[in-house]
Amino acid sequence: MSTLQKNDIHRGRVIDLTHEGHGVIKIDRYPIFIPQALIGEEIEYKVIKVKKNFAIGKLLNVLKESEDRVEPPCVYYYKCGGCQLQHMTYEAQLAMKKEQVVNLFHRKGGFEDVIIHDTIGMENPWRYRNKSQIPVGTNKDQQAIMGFYRQRSHQIIDMDECLIQAPIHQEIMNKVKQWFNELNVSIYDEQKKQGLMRHVVIRTGHYSGEVMVIFVTNGKKFKESNIFVERLQEAFPQIVSIKQNINTSHSNVIMGPQSVTLIGKDTLQDTLSEVEFKMSDQSFYQINTEQTEHLYQRALDYANLQGEEIVLDTYCGIGTIGLYMAQQAKHVYGVEVVQDAIDNAQDNATKNRFNNTTFVCGKAEEVILKWKAQGIKPDVVMIDPPRKGCDETFLNTVLELNPKRIVYISCNPSTQQRDAKILDQQYKLKQITPVDMFPQTTHVETVAQFDRK
Ligand SMILES: C[S@@+](CC[C@H](N)C(=O)[O-])C[C@H]1O[C@@H](n2cnc3c(N)ncnc32)[C@H](O)[C@@H]1O
Repeated sequence: MSTLQKNDIHRGRVIDLTHEGHGVIKIDRYPIFIPQALIGEEIEYKVIKVKKNFAIGKLLNVLKESEDRVEPPCVYYYKCGGCQLQHMTYEAQLAMKKEQVVNLFHRKGGFEDVIIHDTIGMENPWRYRNKSQIPVGTNKDQQAIMGFYRQRSHQIIDMDECLIQAPIHQEIMNKVKQWFNELNVSIYDEQKKQGLMRHVVIRTGHYSGEVMVIFVTNGKKFKESNIFVERLQEAFPQIVSIKQNINTSHSNVIMGPQSVTLIGKDTLQDTLSEVEFKMSDQSFYQINTEQTEHLYQRALDYANLQGEEIVLDTYCGIGTIGLYMAQQAKHVYGVEVVQDAIDNAQDNATKNRFNNTTFVCGKAEEVILKWKAQGIKPDVVMIDPPRKGCDETFLNTVLELNPKRIVYISCNPSTQQRDAKILDQQYKLKQITPVDMFPQTTHVETVAQFDRK
């Protein structure tokens, strides 16, 4: 326990960074975490929270600046919770992400000899998001506001520009917001759980330029929908699909289970390394297309396919990785829990004339048992789970299937490290590459190669 008191003002030297990008100062081994402080800086801070094992500080002044400090270009940066690292040079961001992986695997995980490569970064690490999920709310004058949430809150910061979203998304957001006000559209109130419009989701095909707009509403009746369709089509000819998604749940989940197409196509199309993909509004698609190509290329390198392999693409989404690999494999079996995504994967395989793929809807941990029972013997297993990582049964079945290689992509290296310990019984973790899919934020994506021992 520390003798620190809330509201105390102190000076100190930042000695470390947490995975959330917070600077760390220690007083007699007791840590104080200070957002936006950088390693090596001498700072003045105010203690805002004191807990048994740590305290939180607010940066007041930087007395000696780090060379890694830059002026954040976004005017909302210090309020908005969307980005956490804009005050850091991009080189320092990439180094921090690698360091996080080194720390998790070399130091904490005991994988001392795994090769950890430098983070693959972007040439221009801005305006990369091909999917924006923008909450809609009202201000005190009951005017519609749109933007992103203040850090650790559901308070919307009204904004007209976000530097990590695709530029067309903010143009659409600004028009839609103006029309919500002009047409007096009912806006959802999260506290009262009343009102109609909850979110506007915008997706863009990075290479195709196609745009999909989804109005997420609390209920079916959206009486102004025809006006929005007409105005959007006139203002933005790139829009190929306008949808309404109905979400009447009062949870934090953005989209509900049911969507209707108001006009245009049901799906959006994009191309990755000459393979055409279509995706529906509910299907997962990597949000940074440019970096996805680096990520998949690295995964393909690690899989080292010679043309004769049986590949399992587990947690396959719309089949992107599987279809990448099908070009160099004998057969690819994909599994994914979202039916829409599997429908997309099957259509994508047909459209690209692949006849060596099978996509199955179900839980990876269950379907892999069925594949095992059917006698399918994979040479390579590709794993790309959500943040929580893999189910233990799933990993044990992979061990029983005993493939030559496992390639594991993760958007949460700490669950990947946990899962790597299970795979370690039979597989050597050879190398890991962090790929910066989310510049300006603390999120880290990695791709890892495991070879049978
Ligand atoms: C990180 S995404 C990867 C998708 C795909 N590999 C890609 O690169 O686009 C994880 C996917 O796993 C799916 N998923 C989540 N839990 C699952 C489970 N238990 N079994 C199968 N798929 C699951 C999600 O719907 C999502 O599409």
